This record gives sequence, structure tokens and C-alpha cells, in this order.
Amino acid sequence: MAALIFTYLLNKSFYKIGNMCPLKMRQGYISSLLQVALLLLIPLPATTDDMPLAAAESLLLSDLRYEPIQPLPPPTDLDQRKVRLGEQLFHESRLSHDNNMSCSSCHFLDNNGADYLPHTLGRDGIKLDVNTPTVFNSSLNHYQLWDGRARNLEEQIDFVVTSDKEYATRWPVIVGKLKQDEKYRNSFGLIYPDGITAPNIRNAIATFERSLITLNSRFDRFLLGNANAISPEEKRGYQLFKTYGCVACHQGSNVGGNLFMKLGVFGDYFAKRGNPTQADLGRFNVTGKPRDRHLFRVPSLRLAALTAPYFHDGSIKTLEEAVKVMAKHQLGRTISDHDISQIVAFLKTLPGEYKGQPLGGVHQAAKEADAP
Ligand code: HEC
Ligand code: HEC
Repeated sequence: MAALIFTYLLNKSFYKIGNMCPLKMRQGYISSLLQVALLLLIPLPATTDDMPLAAAESLLLSDLRYEPIQPLPPPTDLDQRKVRLGEQLFHESRLSHDNNMSCSSCHFLDNNGADYLPHTLGRDGIKLDVNTPTVFNSSLNHYQLWDGRARNLEEQIDFVVTSDKEYATRWPVIVGKLKQDEKYRNSFGLIYPDGITAPNIRNAIATFERSLITLNSRFDRFLLGNANAISPEEKRGYQLFKTYGCVACHQGSNVGGNLFMKLGVFGDYFAKRGNPTQADLGRFNVTGKPRDRHLFRVPSLRLAALTAPYFHDGSIKTLEEAVKVMAKHQLGRTISDHDISQIVAFLKTLPGEYKGQPLGGVHQAAKEADAP
């Protein structure tokens, strides 16, 4: 590498010698010589295999802009009045038919933006078909829901409103209820010229959801140049996450959320688990195309450390188990417990903060209190 650059600079200076006037020629020649001298002061390793750890780290640091995972982008241009109104509506149980359920019944914002059940109980205590994903960072996903049947956050809200197991209602009923409340009449009136309407309710909630970006994780601080924000073990976990090939599906700033992929690229995940359900068909339920059977929107792993249990079916209890199943069914690999624990250590560096507080705090404390 050093030799290549050396030759290039030498050629460049010879070219200059041949084409420039004497004064310029000398300046160009001298500055090239200086550059070469500087280069020789920086030892460059021949290959990455025999690179000492410190050198490998500095190379990693110098190229962080090109990493497959990037820091979360801070939300921009959000109308803060809409964010506040949307937050209120997120907690508003009058949106539901029985006035007893809100978005926050299933998406706990002071914790992980989801809940801890394999299948949340919906209206009348009936289990929902799939595991509840987090609402944090969901604005960054290219489609919403496990099978991607909602193209964006606004559409996703329509599914909650009309689902028998969730709000079980219709927009005109909701609009009618909110119009009876003077506070809502005023706050909508200040922001939206046409006041309380279904699109405006969707817009306010979705704007609030777009503000739910979990900035300032330890991993993002590392990506932004703080080499010590994550430990050597966590760095190795990240390296393994890349070399095993997890990044092929889980990448970008949300570490996933931007592809549809089959669960069970290698081997039949469903045969092994048993009890097939309609929801197991994934994307097929939306498109009806045979090739979309068992395809799911690859989930974001940003908060994976906090959102057990896992997978669309909520059948995987721990992060360790999820990593093992992924290696087996998505990559056709067996993976050692040691490598699993390092990947898990890396995944634990990914959650960031909400309202200035590290996410998951309450849950961790509750879990410790519950421990026998
Ligand atoms: C009864 C529990 C429940 C309620 C109430 C609920 N959700 Fe959900 N939410 C879920 C479940 C379960 C899913 C996954 C459904 C699926 O993929 O088919 C989900 C998925 C989502 C997603 C998609 C996330 C992703 O990564 O694809 C968003 C966004 C979301 N909910 C926001 C909301 C909002 C906003 C409300 C209130 C208007 C709400 N939820 C009310 C349980 C609930
Ligand atoms: C071929 C694409 C692909 C590869 C490669 C892949 N995954 Fe996944 N991953 C998925 C899909 C799809 C799901 C959702 C499966 C489901 O729930 O139905 C998923 C789910 C997960 C989950 C559960 C997330 C949640 O919230 O439920 C974790 C954790 C995970 N993957 C980690 C990994 C790790 C670690 C690797 C590398 C060892 C990896 N994945 C490799 C596609 C992939």
C-alpha cells in the first residue's frame, strides 16, 4: 500500500518535472517529497490478517463513514405542536371503541416502545396474531408491520383503528368523540385549518412517532468517533456481526427495517416449531404471491436488547437464542456460545435514549426485582 502511493507520487512529480516551468517545478517536486516523507512516517500494515489490534482499531475508526451501520439521524423539521398533540393522542383511550385502550396500552414509551408478552392481549382479552414490535425508530422502516401491509405510519394507524382486536371502531366515530372535547377543538384548531379530521389525527400521531428516535447510544457515539464508547468485547461482537453476514439483512441506521426476507433461508423454521398459523405466511398474506411465503420485514435490531421475546411469533425467549436461530436458519451456520455472547454484547450497545434517559431502565429494574 505504502509502496503504491510512493510510486504514484514519484510518477506525479516526474510528470510535473517534465511539464512545468523551473520555479513551479521545484515547488511541486519539493511538496511531493514532503508528502512521501510524511507517508513514510505512518506505518501502513501489509494485510489486515497480521494487523495488531490497535492498528485494526485505528483503521476501523478512520473508515467509520463507510460502515454498514450508521448513527441514527436526529429527527428534523418536526412541528413541535404536532409532536405534543400526537403524544397526547398516543395516550388517548377515547380513540378505541370501549374507551379503554390506547397506543400506550401495548407500546410502553418509558421502557422499550413495546411490551414483554409473546402475544399482547387485545380487545376482550383476545391474543393478537403477532408479537408487538417497538414504536421507537419505526419511522425509519421502509414499510410498517411484520408483513409490511402498511406503507407508512399514517396507514399503520388505520389498521389499529379498524382491527376487531384493537380499537374496533371507525374514523367518524373517533372524530365525533374528540369534537366533544373543547381542549381538542382548540389544539387542533391552532395547528390545522380544518380542525379535527381523520387525516389530521393520523398526521399528529405519526409526527409524534417520527420524534421517537433513540439517539446517543453507545454504538452511535463510537461511530461518531469516540473509540472508547464501546469495549473491546463489544467491538469484536460487531466484527462478528459483520463477518457472519448478519449485516446483509440487518443494516443501515436502524440495523434492519429496510428489506423483506424469508424466515428460514436454510432449513424449515416452521416445521421445527410446529403449529403453523396464518400469520406465519408473512408477506404472502399481503401479495398472494407464492414466492412471498414466510417473508417478513427484517426487524430493526436497535432495541432488540430490550424487546424480548423475539420473532413475529414471539416464540424465542432470549437474545442468545435469537442469534443462534438466525445463524442457523438465515446463514446456515452453527455458532459457538462464545461468539453468541459477543454478538449479544454488541447488540446491547445499540439502544439509545428517550427524553434524555437511557431506554429500558425501568424494565431492567423490574426484572431484577422479580428475580427469585
Ligand atoms: C392491543 C395492542 C396494540 C395497540 C393498542 C396498538 N398496537 Fe401498535 N402494534 C401492536 C402489534 C401486535 C403490532 C404488530 C402487528 C403486525 O405486524 O401485524 C404493532 C405494530 C405497530 C407498529 C409497526 C412497527 C414496525 O416496526 O413495523 C407501529 C408503528 C405501531 N404499532 C404503532 C401503534 C400506534 C400509533 C397505536 C395507537 C394508534 C398502536 N400501535 C396501538 C400492538 C398494539
Ligand atoms: C437473510 C436475512 C437475515 C440474516 C442474514 C439475519 N437475519 Fe436476523 N432476522 C431476519 C428476519 C426476516 C427476522 C424476522 C423473523 C421473524 O420474526 O419472523 C430476523 C429477526 C432477528 C432478530 C429478532 C428481532 C426481534 O425483534 O424479534 C434478531 C435478534 C436477529 N434477527 C439477529 C440476527 C443476527 C445476530 C444475525 C447474524 C447471526 C442475523 N439476524 C442474520 C433476517 C435475517
